[in-house]
Amino acid sequence: MSLSELVVPKHSIMTPGPVEADPRVLQAMANPIIGQFDPALLNMMDETKELLKYLFKTNNAEAYPVSGTARSGAEAVLNSIIEPGDKVLVPSFGRFGYLLAEMVERSGAEMKLLEQEWGKVYDVETLKKEIKAFNPKVVAIVHGESSTGALQPLEELGKFCRENDVLLVVDCVPTLGGVEFKTDEWFIDAAISGTQKCLAIPTGYSPLTYNDRVGKILEERKKIEKGLDYDAVNPRRIQSNYFDLSQIQEYWGPSRLNHHTEPTTLLYGLREGLRIIKEEGIDNRIKRHTLHGEALVAGLQGAGIKIFNDLDTKMPVVTLIETPEGVDEAKVRATMVNEFGIEIAGGFGPLAGKTIRIGNMGYGCRKDNILGCIAALEATLSYHGAKINRGDGIQAALEYYAKLGDDQPL
Ligand SMILES: Cc1ncc(COP(=O)(O)O)c(C=O)c1O
Repeated sequence: MSLSELVVPKHSIMTPGPVEADPRVLQAMANPIIGQFDPALLNMMDETKELLKYLFKTNNAEAYPVSGTARSGAEAVLNSIIEPGDKVLVPSFGRFGYLLAEMVERSGAEMKLLEQEWGKVYDVETLKKEIKAFNPKVVAIVHGESSTGALQPLEELGKFCRENDVLLVVDCVPTLGGVEFKTDEWFIDAAISGTQKCLAIPTGYSPLTYNDRVGKILEERKKIEKGLDYDAVNPRRIQSNYFDLSQIQEYWGPSRLNHHTEPTTLLYGLREGLRIIKEEGIDNRIKRHTLHGEALVAGLQGAGIKIFNDLDTKMPVVTLIETPEGVDEAKVRATMVNEFGIEIAGGFGPLAGKTIRIGNMGYGCRKDNILGCIAALEATLSYHGAKINRGDGIQAALEYYAKLGDDQPL
């Protein structure tokens, strides 16, 4: 069998992830492999921890990545803190809330699942009442639902959880690095993210952080595997070995417990991606995402394309549009990628076929991509028979940018 050389098309990825990796990250990842106890690698691990604390806006002692996609971090946190019979409240408002519920259920918890109409978020008073009535050990919730584009406010919820001695676990996979997220100020006990969205790093790592309240549970449940240290019996040991944070934190800590083999190449990429964020400044980066998200909305509205989201609870980095009457959204996505080289995403669950999801994340969150996406979408929707104000969208976006002036972090 003869195979041609690998040819990967150059596409502009305007989905809610995975998105384009920063070229500097890819370059860092091309470096040679060194051993996992090489002092240079250990130093990189320590630097990465510090950079993650900056990103998560936390003074927690623990901030490191779990190797695996974003859900691996969620599985690790939930498995490590939940013991069979623990009460866990999961207020879901889309696909990824259901994913948390699925993990909580599999961990043997007594779970209460709250369900919300897709596209909406929870009023904090409703959550407070549910917490009072159910009295859970843990509340697990998504910050930004990439399936709906909705953003759940967390500040007041975090404060209430802390006052009532409830652990708050948050999935900030699409939001971290692109949308305001304050681990300590919002009283979040554990936060889990992914690399392939606003961090502009390839998928494969789940950065997370947790505080001493979570650390205490890990200490109580700790059991080091036989062959490494001691074979103490701990009836409360964490069910999973791979996702046992009590062991992984020791690998990332001074004892360097040899739990797993760190994906060296990804570590290079993560460190470089975080270094880029530090250079840009986290608040500038959040502003950049916000402004480009607003430009996108201005353009879409200018074209008369209906936005699915409530604008006051919309995530700045994900926008859902309603599929225009009589248009096949799969054909729209196919034309966008085949003719314009722009990838956008379809809807999930009850929104499948009815909505199209557009992301503005990370390195790809740039003016040229936003304008290109609006122009191509106007042409594509019109080509497939939608009645829109063709040409007006791109004008509206240009006007939006012009009004911003030159001193914005774009
Ligand atoms: C909110 C949210 N949580 C979790 C995930 C799961 O991430 P992964 O596919 O990397 O496991 C995603 C991925 O899109 C997400 O958007």
